[in-house]
Amino acid sequence: MISIDSTAMKVNNLDLANLAPNDTALEICNLDLRYGDKQALFNVSMKIPKKQVTAFIGPSGCGKSTLLRCINRMNDLVDNCHIDGEILLHGQNIYDKKIDVAALRRNVGMVFQRPNPFPKSIYENVVYGLRLQGLNNRRELDEAAERSLRGAAIWDEVKDRLHDNAFGLSGGQQQRLVIARAIAIEPEVLLLDEPTSALDPISTLTIEELITELKTKYTVVIVTHNMQQAARVSDQTAFMYMGELVEYADTNTIFTTPRKRKTEDYITGRYG
Ligand SMILES: Nc1ncnc2c1ncn2[C@@H]1O[C@H](COP(=O)(O)OP(=O)(O)OP(=O)(O)O)[C@@H](O)[C@H]1O
Ligand SMILES: [Mg+2]
Repeated sequence: MISIDSTAMKVNNLDLANLAPNDTALEICNLDLRYGDKQALFNVSMKIPKKQVTAFIGPSGCGKSTLLRCINRMNDLVDNCHIDGEILLHGQNIYDKKIDVAALRRNVGMVFQRPNPFPKSIYENVVYGLRLQGLNNRRELDEAAERSLRGAAIWDEVKDRLHDNAFGLSGGQQQRLVIARAIAIEPEVLLLDEPTSALDPISTLTIEELITELKTKYTVVIVTHNMQQAARVSDQTAFMYMGELVEYADTNTIFTTPRKRKTEDYITGRYG
């Protein structure tokens, strides 16, 4: 049985089923997804609150990454992927034909399991997105770099080596650099797909503390295999099983008094 420190868990009183539009960052409505003829998501509906941390948990292959990737249309890059349903951001369906996907991805940033800095300096990694947007003013770029690196809790470690290659950083530092790169363009939503699974315990803790900081400014959605991590960092947790959203509630409820048997079996380690 997995023991979870309940004092580390967040309690909030949001009514997730009836979340007010002002409190809602994203609304997923009746989402179905197929890879070819294999269905990977079944009628998923949920509201994701603004400026909170929402975790997706569940056994391998249950569709966590698939659902996360739907939120910035990363699945568009997968051949044969077919999606029905809607995801509303500011009340607008991101799958609408009118949507500019590049603009959507600027607003909904993503960080992956393995840190993926570009083969450039630390500084150029952070300002990459701003340069793409046409920003060239040195002072503005310098300010944005410092702000983003501070926001990703890595400034003190890199401020004297900004022009060194990013590959010289440790894995945990690289992951924080990638987070700095993601926040440099000031997205509203940050998607994190198992951001610490390739990291050692100390770096993991640093990133977890960072995630708690990030939610003061951003809506964070995190996929994690680590239930203690979900309990430590998230405000609400969605438990998925075989492509279905089985249960979605505040994190405290999911880990202490889940309503569904499947959730309870999973969080008590009966399968996974
Ligand atoms: N590009 C793809 N093409 C075909 N099938 C895919 C593709 N990506 C994922 N799948 C399938 O969709 C299902 C859900 O996969 P997904 O990667 O979303 O699971 P997950 O919950 O993130 O698992 P894990 O915890 O192992 O990362 C799985 O059956 C997987 O094999
Ligand atoms: Mg995954």
